[in-house]
Parts: sequence; structure tokens; C-alpha cells
Amino acid sequence: MPVITNIEDLRALAEKRVPRMFYDYADCGSWTESTYRANESDFQRIKLRQRVAINMEHRSTASTMVGQTVAMPVALAPVGSVGMQHADGEILVARAAEAFGVPFTLSTMSICSIEDVAAHTKARFWFQLYVMRDRQFIERLIDRAKAANCGALVLTLDLQILAQRHKDLKNGLSVPPKPTLTNWINLATKPRWCLGMLGTQRRQFGNIVGHVGGVEDMSSLSQWTASQFDPTLNWNDVEWIKKRWGGKLILKGIQDVEDARLAVSSGADALIVSNHGGRQLDGAESSIRALPAIVDAVGKEIEVHMDGGIRSGQDVLKARALGARGTYIGRAYVYGLGAMGEAGVTKSLEIIRKELDTTMALCGRTDIDTIDKSILLPGTYPA
Ligand SMILES: Cc1cc2nc3c(=O)[nH]c(=O)nc-3n(C[C@H](O)[C@H](O)[C@H](O)COP(=O)(O)O)c2cc1C
Repeated sequence: MPVITNIEDLRALAEKRVPRMFYDYADCGSWTESTYRANESDFQRIKLRQRVAINMEHRSTASTMVGQTVAMPVALAPVGSVGMQHADGEILVARAAEAFGVPFTLSTMSICSIEDVAAHTKARFWFQLYVMRDRQFIERLIDRAKAANCGALVLTLDLQILAQRHKDLKNGLSVPPKPTLTNWINLATKPRWCLGMLGTQRRQFGNIVGHVGGVEDMSSLSQWTASQFDPTLNWNDVEWIKKRWGGKLILKGIQDVEDARLAVSSGADALIVSNHGGRQLDGAESSIRALPAIVDAVGKEIEVHMDGGIRSGQDVLKARALGARGTYIGRAYVYGLGAMGEAGVTKSLEIIRKELDTTMALCGRTDIDTIDKSILLPGTYPA
């Protein structure tokens, strides 16, 4: 077993243990992947100010996101098909997040259903909603999330139509994998994954199968989903969804100041500066570059969160310094899950918290809630 010291180690182990089709599904972006890469590399350009001879004892990374206490300002982003990275994936991730004291967001496109995750955890998880053409299905999903006592609804706005990821097409991505010769050969090299999958019944989209008329098996499911993402989604829909939900509402996928202002007008509790981890508009600005202008424009009126490219506690600290009240990790925990199951997700959170805590101290601060731009070296960050 290799010594795991950072998120890159978890990524490398996940690459060995997860079938190629599902590993590639996570570690890729749309088209040229330029936005996917920029999300990470733009963090590297921002430099921190080293401070010394300041009392660094009694530190705290605890904060709040939409009023909820969090052990650190890092939530787990909604990721589709997590239960294909590792058997029972969503339940394992939810448990790790609960034990750590950070929110987990369950995707509409999860393998384990809302009810299943609720039955295996005590903490309130958050639910991410994709708007589908079938509005009755959406109403039922919102009601199911309410019945499961979800703590917030994360409404994703940046996937009205799907961008293209070349690798998914080349790998013939499907849930469960198609029994082609290439897939059999690849699966033969992933015994842990196969054993896990043989030991679970959770191998389909749990929020959908059995909850939509006519969708009872894999082929009807793929036809249904392909035609369902709603290209007509608009701000009036946000209004009815907000009303029907009635709880904390977080709007995900805002990259533009004008959209941020509309998000404020919608009465949402928070917005997430996000480009879907570089999986939708290839050529969009990285999230960390888009963040400061949005914080400047609406930061006093709405809680601003961000995701995209976070691979370390240093990245979380930089996002905080540029005004993000909360951040989300996607691939960082997905790699942990693929590498080592629940323990790997816990490991990813531990790595990030340790990096965050130590880096904050080396910048001369002891409380995450006091972090602002003054910890950054002028001229190295987007204004
Ligand atoms: C494999 C994968 C699947 C995703 N599925 C969803 C999803 O179902 N719903 C959603 O709102 N965002 C989804 N996202 C986007 C994430 O919520 C998040 O915005 C992104 O992963 C953040 O970037 P990071 O992975 O660099 O941390 C997905 C991302 C990945 C990598």
C-alpha cells in the first residue's frame, strides 16, 4: 500500500483501481479540456504572503455555509454515478462527510437513491437538482428531498444541454458497463471493484429507476435521460422550484456578474461560482478567476461559494481569501473513494484540512473566518 500524502496520490491509486470508463468519466473535461485545466492551474498563479513570529496556537477552520456549521468551509460537490467509482459510493461518501462534519451533496444522477442515503446517515445531506422536462418528476424529486429532511437544495443551472466529453464517447460509457471485449479485459484488472459491485444491488440511477413511468430497465433509462435535460430552463422555473422547496436554496453554475445579480433577485440563499468542473463550456474562465468580480458585485447580498480545481487546502484558503464563503470539492473526494472507499474519502478530507490549517498558520492567521485578501501577495491574484 503506497503512502498517501496528497490528493494526487489518491488520484493515482484511483486510476489503478477504478475501471477505465469510470476513471476517465471523472478525470476529464469537455472538448479541449482548457477550462478543466485552467481551474487547477489558475490557483497555482496566486501567491500567499508568508508571515512569522505571530502566535499560531489555538487555530480553527470551523465556519458556516448557509447557516450550517462546518468543520471547514468545504462541502462535497454533487457528482453523478459516484456509486460506479466504488460499490455503494454515495452512502460511503455521505458517511465520511457526516463523520467529518462537512455537508455532502447528493446528485440527481446518483446510483444510491435519496431514501437509501437517508436510511444510512443521520446528518442532513444536501440534494442537487437537475431540471428535467418531466416537471412532475421534478416535483416528486423535490418532495422526496423534503421528506428525507435534506438541509439544502442545490439547483444546477449550467447543464440545460450537455457538452461533449471525448473520452466518454470513446469508452462507450454506460451504467453498468457494456460487456464488450475491451471492457471485460479492463474489468479483469480491477478485482476489488468487481467484487464490490457483485456484492451490491445498487447499479442503476436510484433516483430515477422505478420513479418514472416506463423507466424500469437500462435501455429505457438511457433513452429517458438523454431526452430529459431541459433546454428551456429559465428564472421563472427557479421561482417555482424555490416555492415548492421552501428551504435553503443554492444556485450552482454562475460564472457571470449579470447572472449573479439575477441569482440575488431570485431570493436564493447562496450561489456557486462554477463551470461544472470544466465539463460544460470549454473556454469559460476558471472559477477562481471568475470569483472576485462576482464577490464585488453581489457578495454583500448573497453568500458566494465556488468550486472547480480545488486539490488542496491551499486552494481552499485562496478561494476564501478572494471572498468565497464556502467551497466544494468534486474530483478530490471522488479519487479518494475510487482509491480506498469510505476511508479514502475521509483521507481526502483530512489531507485538505491539514493543508488548510497549516497554511493558514504560516500566513499568520489562526481563524478561518478572519481570512481575506490581505493574505495574498498583491499582483498575483485576479482583481
Ligand atoms: C464525474 C463528475 C460528475 C459530476 N456530476 C455532477 C452532477 O451530477 N451534478 C452537478 O451539479 N454537478 C456535477 N459535477 C460537477 C461538480 O459538482 C463540481 O462542480 C466539480 O466537480 C468541481 O470541480 P472539481 O472536480 O475540480 O472539484 C460533476 C463533476 C464530475 C467530475
